[in-house]
Formats: sequence, C-alpha cells, structure tokens
Amino acid sequence: MSEKIIKLAIAGVGNCASSLVQGINFYRHVTERSDLVPGLMHNSIDGYLPSSIVPVAAFDIDKRKVGKSLDLAIFAEPNCTLVFEDNIVEGLGQGVPVFRGPTLDGMANIMQHHPENRAFRESNADPVDVVEALRKSGAHVLVNYMPVGSEKATQFYAQCALEAGVAFVNCMPAFIASTKRWADKFYAASLPIVGDDIKSQIGATIVHRVLADLFAQRGVELGSTYQLNVGGNTDFLNMHDGEARLSSKRVSKTEAVTSQIPGGIAADKIHVGPSDYVPHLGDQKRCFIDMSGYYFGRASVSLRLELHVEDSPNSAGVAIDAIRCAKLALDRGIGGPLTSIASYTMKHPPEQYRDVEAREKTEAFIRGELER
Ligand SMILES: NC(=O)c1ccc[n+]([C@@H]2O[C@H](COP(=O)([O-])OP(=O)(O)OC[C@H]3O[C@@H](n4cnc5c(N)ncnc54)[C@H](O)[C@@H]3O)[C@@H](O)[C@H]2O)c1
Repeated sequence: MSEKIIKLAIAGVGNCASSLVQGINFYRHVTERSDLVPGLMHNSIDGYLPSSIVPVAAFDIDKRKVGKSLDLAIFAEPNCTLVFEDNIVEGLGQGVPVFRGPTLDGMANIMQHHPENRAFRESNADPVDVVEALRKSGAHVLVNYMPVGSEKATQFYAQCALEAGVAFVNCMPAFIASTKRWADKFYAASLPIVGDDIKSQIGATIVHRVLADLFAQRGVELGSTYQLNVGGNTDFLNMHDGEARLSSKRVSKTEAVTSQIPGGIAADKIHVGPSDYVPHLGDQKRCFIDMSGYYFGRASVSLRLELHVEDSPNSAGVAIDAIRCAKLALDRGIGGPLTSIASYTMKHPPEQYRDVEAREKTEAFIRGELER
C-alpha cells in the first residue's frame, strides 16, 4: 500500500491558512485508533489523518509573508487569528517557502490604502512561475484562499492546478467547481475539484440552513429572514471595499440558505450578507440571525439568534476534510467536481443537499460506495 501523504500547496497565507497549518500540527498525534477527537469531523478519512497533510509550497503577495518559511508567515501581520499551536514541527510547515504569486485582482482598493496594519503590503519581488513551483513541489492538492472578489486570481490558480496536474479545493466565493466551464476542464484533466466557498464547522451559514430546514420539516412557513455578520479580520476589511467585490459572496451565502426552503422565499424577504468591519473584533465574528414565520392557524413565530465564533479555525476544521477527500479522489482516478464532500463542506457546491444528506453522501464517498 502506498504511503498516506498529501502534499499540500496553499494560495493565500492569511488567517484561514494559519488555522489550517496550526491544526495539522495540533492534531499530529491523532491515529486511526484515537477516540473521537474534539474539533475534528473525521480522525481518519480512509487512512488519511491530519498529519498526512504535509505543506510543500505556498503563495502570497504580502511582503511580510513572501520569502519567509510557512511556519513564520502564518503568524505574520496582518494575520490576527487565534494562536493555538505555535509548535510548528519540521515537515509540517518549517522550511516550506512562501513564493510571490501574481497579484492580479487579489488586492482591493481598501487593502492597498487602509492606514492600519490590517491592510495588505504588496511585495516588490517578481512573481514566480506558479505552475513550475507547483510541479517542483510535488503538490497533490492546491487549496485556494484568495480574498473575496478575487475572480481573476482564483481562476489563475485553478488554471495553474490544471496545468501542474494538482487537485483544487476552492475555499472562497469565486464560482469554479459550481460552473460547467471549469467543471468540464477538471473532468477533462482527470483532476478532482472541491468548491466553492467553505461552509464553516458551526458558522452562520450552517446554523441558518439547519434552522430553515427545521422550519420546513415542522410545516412552518418562513415569512422573512436576515443574517448579518460583523468581524475585524482582513476578510471583513476586504469586504468593506464596496458592493462590487461582494456580489459572489452574497449569492453564495444567500443560496446556501434559500436552497433549504422548499417553496423558496421572495427575494425581498431575505437578506444575507457580510455587513460591517469592526476592527477591535479581530478574527472574532458575530452573526445575527432573524427568522419570522407562520405555523398552525397562521399564528406567528419569530426567532433571534446571536452566534460568536473565531472565524478562521471554524473554516480550517472543514478544509481539513475537503483536502483529504480531494486526495482520496485523486488516488481513485476520479476527476471533476466531488459533489458529496462539496455539499458537506461548501456554501456553493455544484449540488445542494440537506446537511444530513450531505453528510451521508460524504460517508458513502469515503467508503467508496459513491463515485463522487
Ligand atoms: N470562516 C472563514 O474564515 C471563511 C469561511 C468561508 C470562506 N472564507 C473565505 O476564504 C478566503 C480566505 O480567508 P482569510 O480569512 O484567510 O483571508 P485573509 O485576508 O486573511 O487572507 C488572504 C491572503 O491572500 C493573500 N493574497 C491576496 N492576493 C493574492 C494573490 N494574488 N496570490 C496569492 N496570495 C494573495 C493575502 O496577502 C492574504 O495573505 C476569503 O475569501 C474568505 O471569504 C473564509
């Protein structure tokens, strides 16, 4: 049997990447025989453990990260997420180069000019040949963490993955896995793709979806609903740039909820979105959900919920499974979008299921009973 190693390349060494690399280290002692480990959705995915993931290359554009090794870059400003593991061990990030990627549309206007350290500081080094760097690194999977609104940069990294023969996991809301054009390219190249836009472990999206599903299962008509989110990390600062960069994020977050409402809901009765940048919150995110509906005899019910999370570990706890499933598909020679794990781990997958169904399909995929 071949060794269970997943060589991982990372595009965008921001807060989510930091939590992911910290987590690979934090959970390195987990074995097939470990009891249920708090924080993980799976200890092992067909033999792939958290420690099977070995970072081999990374790409960024910020001068505080480019040229550093990954174990240092993940703690460089403007990253501000929780440090839960500073013991990054050899082979799990130490000595892994952060290459200069091309900037393209990765830097919003606000990220160039904002006075605070939370903004990006563009490196003046020349970009590397990303396809060549991926090939040399031997990466199996490239995970994409571009800022919201980076359509061109995301397409660029997806194309590099295709050319370098690497599976792609798209954690942000530029639509790649969920579009026919890109899905066909990954089918043709026999390379797996999981996307788009990561659905956190216990985040605003999954909570809102589960509640919308609960209303439907109990015969309650959802009359109106909104979801507002505030946070103080670079993701929220970037989304403060203006509506132009936000459109795909709004679509992704809104469809994640409307897909769980059987009869649908009028567009003017639902409002879902990132709402404001509150600097002192750092990587803490606050989410406010409001739902109003009607049940028996058209009596009314309303619900108001406030969720507080640390944003980036919340996404990394999900990405760690998407990455392992992408490698599993690579081993099995399956190319194109992986619909089961995408529906489980992404807000805007090629096919939306109820979350319980998505979990069942993912387990069937892992057991090899479902092709994708
Ligand atoms: N819970 C979550 O945190 C969560 C959930 C769902 C989706 N996402 C999405 O994941 C993405 C990453 O989030 P984050 O919090 O890590 O963001 P971040 O702002 O902390 O990190 C983005 C990184 O990308 C780098 N970058 C910008 N342009 C680049 C380019 N062209 N090439 C290489 N690097 C480039 C930046 O320098 C920065 O280091 C965002 O789009 C976010 O919306 C996050």
